[in-house]
Amino acid sequence: LDNGLAVTPQMGFNNWNSTHCRAEFNEAMVKGIADLFVTKGLKAAGYQYVNLDDCWALPNRDSSGNLVPDPVRFPNGIKAVADYVHGKGLKFGIYSSAGSKTCDVQGFPGGLGHEQQDANLWASWGVDYLKYDNCNNQGVDVLTRYTAMRDALKATGRPILYSICEWGSSQPWNWAQPVGNSWRTTGDIGDSWSSMLGIAHANQPLAPYARVGAWNDPDMLEVGNGGMTDTEYRTHFSLWAEMAAPLLIGSDLRSASQATLDILTNSDVIAVDQDPLGRQGTVVSSSGGKVVMSKPLADGSRAVTLTNENASTATVSTTVQDLGIGGAASYAVKDLWTKAGSSTTGAVSASVPAHGTVMLRITPGNPVPPPSGLSRLSDLTW
Ligand code: DGJ
Repeated sequence: LDNGLAVTPQMGFNNWNSTHCRAEFNEAMVKGIADLFVTKGLKAAGYQYVNLDDCWALPNRDSSGNLVPDPVRFPNGIKAVADYVHGKGLKFGIYSSAGSKTCDVQGFPGGLGHEQQDANLWASWGVDYLKYDNCNNQGVDVLTRYTAMRDALKATGRPILYSICEWGSSQPWNWAQPVGNSWRTTGDIGDSWSSMLGIAHANQPLAPYARVGAWNDPDMLEVGNGGMTDTEYRTHFSLWAEMAAPLLIGSDLRSASQATLDILTNSDVIAVDQDPLGRQGTVVSSSGGKVVMSKPLADGSRAVTLTNENASTATVSTTVQDLGIGGAASYAVKDLWTKAGSSTTGAVSASVPAHGTVMLRITPGNPVPPPSGLSRLSDLTW
């Protein structure tokens, strides 16, 4: 959607994967996350949006037809939370559904037929981001429903990032570029290796549909929720960055381990996700559970993932020709997790642990390193 937003994939937090509708989803949690964005370096790493999911409202609109925040979860209303988040230099997001009710069994009111009234209310609260779900849609055509909210958001005059949560059922990659800033390509992610990998496989072929302002969304991150190992979470984060996916943290950062924070704030991996060229990585080769992906970057280098989907260590290999950057005399290679630097004249290969990913940035045409024995240019005599 050409609204000047999501020029790179959106980064932030959403409570759903860690809390669903449980009572711990409340004002204290949201404020706590905003605090940690600042104190734990997440804001500095690029995370910007602090977003609410389903269950923030009461089950009924008020007598004027307005949505009403749940007074137990949000005793000071939503605007007070948005103000707090803005006070930290961050942005604030909210959730609704393009139907008569949201997806939770309690059925909170949806936006269908109330698009402008709801958009106006959110704008008056200072909302910067809308995630718009697909439940209870009453059989109304999908494009009609999602376009109505796009137009209502625009009519508020406030810049509001528009995240379409359509779960891939109507192949939104075929229609959503002019409608939303991102669209969900699959059903909900779960906190397991098999769920995460299945979603990655479904999202990988959709690379041609992603562009600046309009991204494939393979759902929010599970990093830190406890159902995968840190090795598997590094694969999850690597693949989402390689696929230029929105990076929405889905774990409760108030109890995050240092390993979780280290994964989420890896600046080299985030730079791949946020690269200004705006291209989603593609699969270069896949056989026997050894998968190589390549993502073109604005500086002419490639971000490369070497993933081992097997249950034991394996060597995963490719070449600069297969990555699409053949022809240079040599290449600088940086491992984005270990930070080790090396060089190659063409072969790219790594021993990758079970369910692990080695992620590299490979840059053509670097100067040939000085002859051995000379560690600095100043060691050369002229
Ligand atoms: C379905 C979405 O896919 C989830 O991410 C979440 O928003 C739930 N609905 C909320 O009910």
